[in-house]
Amino acid sequence: MSKLFFLLVIATAILIAGCSSGSQEKPKALETSALAEKQGAEIEASAKSLPHPGEKVYKQYCQVCHQANGAGVSGVFPPLTPNKYIADKTQLIELVLHGMTGEIEVNGEKYNSLMAPHNHLTDLELANVISYVRSNFGNKLDPVTVEEVAAVRNR
Ligand code: HEC
Repeated sequence: MSKLFFLLVIATAILIAGCSSGSQEKPKALETSALAEKQGAEIEASAKSLPHPGEKVYKQYCQVCHQANGAGVSGVFPPLTPNKYIADKTQLIELVLHGMTGEIEVNGEKYNSLMAPHNHLTDLELANVISYVRSNFGNKLDPVTVEEVAAVRNR
């Protein structure tokens, strides 16, 4: 009986030792791989998060109406998600420079309001902000150059 009890104690001790050493190693390994994963994600994010030079201009001059995500405000401020006004480079430069008024339809919704001219911005600011719009909010269009803005301004 006492022999059996002794064996039981030993078996329990081995079991506990096995469990505790196992449970010490596992989280450590998990923790390291989780950290490596986190670091990798952070490096990737920081590489991607270099702000576009037009982002600052957008935040200052466009975001108040068209919103940070470019979705606009339904029925009031049209969205800057892919549509024909963003696709047509010259028309886009022109409408941002000289403003826009009259009824338009963007992605199936009608707008009839007024956007003020932005000709107080420099050619560089305009090229940057238009390029920012053309490469964000789902748009994947080529950038607009300072020369292209100047050409429309000097027409
Ligand atoms: C005070 C609000 C306001 C600001 C600021 C503003 N917009 Fe607009 N925007 C409008 C309105 C309203 C229209 C629609 C005009 C109409 O109904 O004819 C419009 C139309 C547009 C359009 C064409 C339609 C579309 O949705 O694609 C583009 C592109 C555009 N804006 C880009 C810009 C950019 C870029 C800036 C910043 C440089 C800017 N807007 C600043 C209000 C604004």
